[in-house]
Amino acid sequence: MNLNIALLPGDGVGSEVLDQAVKCLQAVEETFNHHFVYKEALVGAIAIDKKGNPLPDTTLKLCKEADAVLFGAIGDPKYDNNPEATVRPEQGLLKLRKELGLYTNIRPVKVFPTLIDNSPLKKEIIAGTDFIIYRELTGGIYFGEKKTNAEGTVASDLCEYSEKEISRIAHLAFKAAKNRRNKLTLVDKANVLESSRLWRKVVTSIGESYPEVSLDFLFVDNAAMQIILNPSQFDVILTENMFGDIISDEGSVIGGSIGLLASASVGDKNALFEPIHGSYPQAKGKDIANPIASILSAAMLLENFGLFEEAMAVREAVDKSLKKGVVTQDLDNKSQYGTKQVGDFIADNIVDSEDDFNMNDENIDLGKSTII
Ligand code: IPM
Ligand code: MN
Repeated sequence: MNLNIALLPGDGVGSEVLDQAVKCLQAVEETFNHHFVYKEALVGAIAIDKKGNPLPDTTLKLCKEADAVLFGAIGDPKYDNNPEATVRPEQGLLKLRKELGLYTNIRPVKVFPTLIDNSPLKKEIIAGTDFIIYRELTGGIYFGEKKTNAEGTVASDLCEYSEKEISRIAHLAFKAAKNRRNKLTLVDKANVLESSRLWRKVVTSIGESYPEVSLDFLFVDNAAMQIILNPSQFDVILTENMFGDIISDEGSVIGGSIGLLASASVGDKNALFEPIHGSYPQAKGKDIANPIASILSAAMLLENFGLFEEAMAVREAVDKSLKKGVVTQDLDNKSQYGTKQVGDFIADNIVDSEDDFNMNDENIDLGKSTII
């Protein structure tokens, strides 16, 4: 298959983790005879610094023309603590989501059995966790009208949803549930918010076309509690933009590290793949960031194009690195492996997928790779 992939490393550790994902995609090309073309562009704080715009027109054009976008991370502390800043790196990502029509953000939360002891939660609670969050991504309070009064003493953000915005993601979430364990949970705040009541009405009526899927509802405050108390009760969670942002970070700690969670953002034409972690500026340039979330985002990219065997090869290589302990320090504080070595190990194992665990540890330590 031929694919044009836009690479947007962005800020912080973005380029370091993205490089490892590309290495793995190159291993897939080599092993399965595909041809991917990569073109890189600026986004985020680095784009503000170089072009005065967090999403330069050239970047947007490249993304629109590409088959898929692979994204690193966005954000820089110099903007976070400055409420006066009128241009922010995050605006680049938000505009990109809107312009590409990426209305559905898919965030799988799964416990890797080999890492069960890494979780801050008890083993008995998290065993068997395997759910997927469908977060609406181009509406709600993120994109509603924003106002500040002349004195700067009162501010508001409007949370608005239309039936159309709700129904298009709801259909995708029901279809996902049909292919999984037939359970969909709508997370909202329908006891307080009018917009949540609309979500309930629309989702309930769409549910009639999916009789095999059982639909239930949870208020977001209760959902936040249930995700920690009993995460294995969930199959597919559907929710609006802001609630999805919050509960997906919460879900990410179940598996022991936010550095493991990948995501896909899809619309009718375009698709973007990114780790759910942020730019982790403290780790920038230190070769310590966990590349697995970025590599698993590349696996989701492959699945999006029907390349399931290829994606499985990536996932199995990731599993091997976890089993073998070839991981970064967030997963093992005694680990000596850096971002690049973990990436090399996983890429090598995509190429030599039939190899078992008899590999030479010295080669791992040297970070030797067959992928250049
Ligand atoms: C995410 C991030 C973004 C969001 C930020 C960077 C704008 O937290 O993808 O979850 O809030 O959507
Ligand atoms: Mn977030």
